[in-house]
Amino acid sequence: MNILGIETSCDETAAAVVCDANDAVSRIRSNIVFSQISEHIEYGGVVPEIAARAHLHYIRPTIESALLQANLTLNDIDGIAVTSGPGLIGGVLVGLMAAKAIAMTHNIPFLGINHLEGHALTVRLTNNVPYPYLLLLISGGHCQFVAVESLGSYRVLGRTLDDAAGEAFDKVAKMMDVGYPGGPAIEQLAKTGNSERFVLPRPLIGRKDCNFSFSGLKTSVRTLLGKGDIVNRQDKADLAASFQKVVADHIIDRASHALSLVDERYQYLVVAGGVAANEYIRNRLNTLACKRKRIFVAPPIKLCTDNAAMIAWAGLERFEAGLTSEFDISPKPRWPLESLKI
Ligand code: KG4
Ligand code: ZN
Repeated sequence: MNILGIETSCDETAAAVVCDANDAVSRIRSNIVFSQISEHIEYGGVVPEIAARAHLHYIRPTIESALLQANLTLNDIDGIAVTSGPGLIGGVLVGLMAAKAIAMTHNIPFLGINHLEGHALTVRLTNNVPYPYLLLLISGGHCQFVAVESLGSYRVLGRTLDDAAGEAFDKVAKMMDVGYPGGPAIEQLAKTGNSERFVLPRPLIGRKDCNFSFSGLKTSVRTLLGKGDIVNRQDKADLAASFQKVVADHIIDRASHALSLVDERYQYLVVAGGVAANEYIRNRLNTLACKRKRIFVAPPIKLCTDNAAMIAWAGLERFEAGLTSEFDISPKPRWPLESLKI
């Protein structure tokens, strides 16, 4: 079975072909991600209207490249899976309309996929992780712990009370004027910094749940910058390292509570979403999992950030379960994982 996946929910125009091969390595037949970073860089964040227009411009060549790289034509495609939410509505609409048009004209089964489910199931594509598992989803728009019970059965154990983790990285990077997107910029800078130099407050300390909060931390960085002590590159590197460490401390503290909320069937601690590309955070999570006798799994870095292989895979699991979508589904700007019951 060959599934064409399409993803346009934020600032990446992506298309991929994934098949049902037994070994994980052969499953991804192509994976094309066209990043729009250069179009948004001068604004220091994603501008929805620019993103929608760019998706419209790049969608067709991106899909054609995915088929070409896979050495397939549309006649070889058994199903089309497309992100139909949550995300920026203009972008989602472009992907969804393209997918519907191809599916209709070529008579191919069609599925609208929840973007978060794509991130959530990526480790099944890459590492054959069995259900159930504890998922930490940390991206630019989402930050939550999810008990992944089985396909379509997701229980959110805790979520952010304010910003998402990636959003905090992006906003702090913008305040520090170190580049966009903020996560990779801060991680790079932190490599040469002293994480002990600045003492930043650890959010929600002592709270016995697994919710997150990043806004106080962000304000502390703003206050520090306002004092005028951060002047040279080394100061910025030290601040980046201190910030990254306290974000990781917070994530580890929350993950520790989340692990206490699931039973012994949950042998795996899994991370997904753009912030999961951060090697420092991955290493800290790995250490925690070892201590708690769990197996830690993170997808390869390029499958942590937005891509269409994860959408194709979620589609493949759903098609195999006999599910399809009607052609009248609409794009959903909000679409919680818990509402996906099948
Ligand atoms: O999953 P994703 O590509 O898009 C959303 O669905 O949100 O995540 C993008 C987010 C951005 O906020 C970006 O700054 C963050 O992931 N990110 C990182 C790293 N790479 C990407 N955050 C920390 N460290 C990184 N290396
Ligand atoms: Zn994402």
